[in-house]
Amino acid sequence: MNLKRMTTFAVLGVVAAGLTAPVIAQDMLMGADAIERRQELMKSNGMTLRGARGASGDEAIAAAETLVSNFAELGDLWPADSMEGDTKARPEIWNEDGSLSEGFLTAYNNASSAADALLAAAQSGDAEAFGAAFGAMGGSCGACHQSYQFD
Ligand code: HEC
Repeated sequence: MNLKRMTTFAVLGVVAAGLTAPVIAQDMLMGADAIERRQELMKSNGMTLRGARGASGDEAIAAAETLVSNFAELGDLWPADSMEGDTKARPEIWNEDGSLSEGFLTAYNNASSAADALLAAAQSGDAEAFGAAFGAMGGSCGACHQSYQFD
């Protein structure tokens, strides 16, 4: 390998390290930081869902995109050390060994899929499909809260 190519590789290495850093930082949110971030995202979920009722066109698409992105990030915000603290998360979210319970994962996956379906419906421009997907989205929020969030 000549010097020029080596330099290119070194530069690419630095760029790659820079790109992965935020992902690693996000994976490492622990305890109180994870609680704070998931509560922010849940508040955004609440506001976004309210705004999406009866929405159409770009507004409906933007709302659905926010929900999809919120749920993507929410998947990593339940470390076992965030069970206690200033949180309304119920301990049933976690198994004895600190992993996430099957019921919670199912509720999370259902909501995540509902957000994907809401986005597809928004993009289709079919108001009836959007209304149905909106109902399913709201139902999946409630299903998880009923079992896993303290009132
Ligand atoms: C997989 C389970 C799950 C799903 C799905 C879910 N939530 Fe939550 N939500 C929780 C839990 C647990 C909390 C409590 C978080 C905490 O206090 O640490 C919460 C908290 C909230 C809060 C209160 C935030 C605060 O601290 O003020 C709102 C608002 C909320 N969720 C809205 C929604 C909406 C809207 C949806 C659907 C678009 C949704 N959630 C989907 C589990 C879920």
